[in-house]
Amino acid sequence: MAVDVDLRTLLEQGATLPAHWYSDPDIHAFERERVFARHWQFVGPAEWLDRDGAYFAGRAGHIPVVVVRDGDATRAFVNVCRHRAHIVASDRGCKKTLQCPYHAWTYGLDGALRNAPRAQVEGDFRPEELGLLPVAVGTWGPLVFVNPDIDAAPLLDALGPLPDHVAASGIDLDALRLRRVQPSTSDYNWKTAVENTLECYHCQVAHPGFSRVIDVAKSAYELATDGLVLSQFGPAKTGDDPRRPPMPDGIVKQAQYHILFPSSSIDLVPGPPNLQAYAWSPLSTTRMASTTFSWFTGETTDAEIDQIIAFNDEVSAEDEALVNSVQEGLDSGAVRHGRLMPESEALIGRFQRLLYDAVTGP
Ligand code: FES
Ligand SMILES: [Fe+2]
Repeated sequence: MAVDVDLRTLLEQGATLPAHWYSDPDIHAFERERVFARHWQFVGPAEWLDRDGAYFAGRAGHIPVVVVRDGDATRAFVNVCRHRAHIVASDRGCKKTLQCPYHAWTYGLDGALRNAPRAQVEGDFRPEELGLLPVAVGTWGPLVFVNPDIDAAPLLDALGPLPDHVAASGIDLDALRLRRVQPSTSDYNWKTAVENTLECYHCQVAHPGFSRVIDVAKSAYELATDGLVLSQFGPAKTGDDPRRPPMPDGIVKQAQYHILFPSSSIDLVPGPPNLQAYAWSPLSTTRMASTTFSWFTGETTDAEIDQIIAFNDEVSAEDEALVNSVQEGLDSGAVRHGRLMPESEALIGRFQRLLYDAVTGP
């Protein structure tokens, strides 16, 4: 592929990826093939697979997937009909089979093609060769992940330190219950969104409410990278501040913001046990889908949940404006490379090198 021969060196020196990487169809095609088709991605909640036959549709990057509960097994498939590519399952539900709404090809929960109208009278037809294509699936706590690479190493290898980080917060993942699901779409490149979440250098400037709850000072706010996991830890502020947004008290004393490369975002905020996970998928070079899932325990009141969600929503709305503006600037192409702050934006540097290596690798 045509990339700058010394781009890896420029990245090492603190330059950002070139602006055209945030809208270029060729880069996007390589990302689909070499990043999204090969990495674990959060897709949805395990609670939606609570019965035999329960299923939900989601995406692994650009690839539609359907996750099903088949007896005791959790399975996942490319959610594209082997006949002529209609999406097989939509939303979520509970069924004994998955039937494509176009011509009624019908698949078992094991993915096998069980029935295709007129198959017996249409000559050579081998249903055993036309099952839904499997993808790898794994579960951690209430989160289900998929990887289009069926030969991928297990999910826990990719999660690396993430389970220990979350356990250190005191949250019991088994006690969490899904309390909110919020889908949306946005008009920017997926990397613009991910990079915005990878630094809090902008928090003092652009998130005044957030910065009254979380200590975003460089001395207090920690960054860590381990394999594919890029993490931030921000302690809750203490002391009296009448301008601080109302937040319920609880066992969690430190915010955590994690990205599992490439695009799974998992976070928790100070207060009662909580977890947010974001299923992010690029729909095109400058369009992405996002679904936000929020978990709390049964003991957390609706009023407390409303406070935490209002806190998160305020930050999200501020970020949405920032990311739209960055995409406009990138689309202009007028500034080829940005310049990272090497410490405060170390996670973006790591993310961009992971991405460059994946896109240009074998
Ligand atoms: S495309 Fe699915 S049955 Fe025809
Ligand atoms: Fe932000």
